[in-house]
Amino acid sequence: MKKAIVVGATSGIGNELAKILIENGYKVGITGRRKSELEKLKQTNPHSYIISSFDCTSENNSTKLSQLTEQLGGLELLILSSGTGDLNEKLDFKIENRTNLLNVNAFTEIVDWTFNYFQTQKKGHLVAISSIAGIRGSRLAPAYNASKAYQLNYLEGLRQKATKIKLPIYVTDIRPGFVDTDMAKSEVQFWVATKEKAARQIFRIIKRKRGIGYVTKRWWIVAKLLRLIPHGMYKRM
Ligand SMILES: NC(=O)c1ccc[n+]([C@@H]2O[C@H](COP(=O)([O-])OP(=O)(O)OC[C@H]3O[C@@H](n4cnc5c(N)ncnc54)[C@H](OP(=O)(O)O)[C@@H]3O)[C@@H](O)[C@H]2O)c1
Repeated sequence: MKKAIVVGATSGIGNELAKILIENGYKVGITGRRKSELEKLKQTNPHSYIISSFDCTSENNSTKLSQLTEQLGGLELLILSSGTGDLNEKLDFKIENRTNLLNVNAFTEIVDWTFNYFQTQKKGHLVAISSIAGIRGSRLAPAYNASKAYQLNYLEGLRQKATKIKLPIYVTDIRPGFVDTDMAKSEVQFWVATKEKAARQIFRIIKRKRGIGYVTKRWWIVAKLLRLIPHGMYKRM
């Protein structure tokens, strides 16, 4: 039986992905702070889920992931879906720091632990849910966009590392546009995908072991357009 961990499986995209993995024969370790949500998920398939409830910003992620992997009996795939971000026009440092602690610090510890684990076993697949927001800055949520830019760049570095060491370690960067979860906080929203549709598309990208995947697919166009906007014009938007 294949083994996977979903970090951030209590709601949204991670919750849907955990269900899809079960449908596809995986044994799945599920994490998140809200233990009651993890227990609800486990009740749907008690023998296939293993729960580990922890806060990625205050616990030792490496130890928690090692313990969960041991309980699963191995690890082929880790999906990092935990993320946070708030609109913060007043530049309240508490809000920015909360975002950075999860999207930058905890992200780094989790992807590093995963890559090192896969390097030791000489194979594996790391998937992280970043965002289209990582492509340009935002006056409305500066830390969110900046932290997602960090993720895009970090994952690119890991893909380069995997290629250099010539091991079948895959690193997939999923860049969603808007998905109908609690995270979608922007006042103006369009092309909003259901979390079910987003998760189905993400699973297809995972199966193809793609390096980067836009969800839904047409957000690829937005990514291209965002990059083309000249700095002089972008700063007035
Ligand atoms: N929804 C969108 O429009 C959208 C667009 C682009 C990218 N994304 C990205 O997609 C990812 C998943 O978000 P979502 O849309 O599925 O939203 P969501 O339903 O709010 O899911 C966020 C997940 O992160 C977990 N989490 C938050 N803080 C945590 C912490 N301190 N420690 C451990 N886990 C924590 C939550 O679990 P607990 O609260 O139980 O800890 C939850 O499982 C995020 O990285 C987000 O940035 C979302």
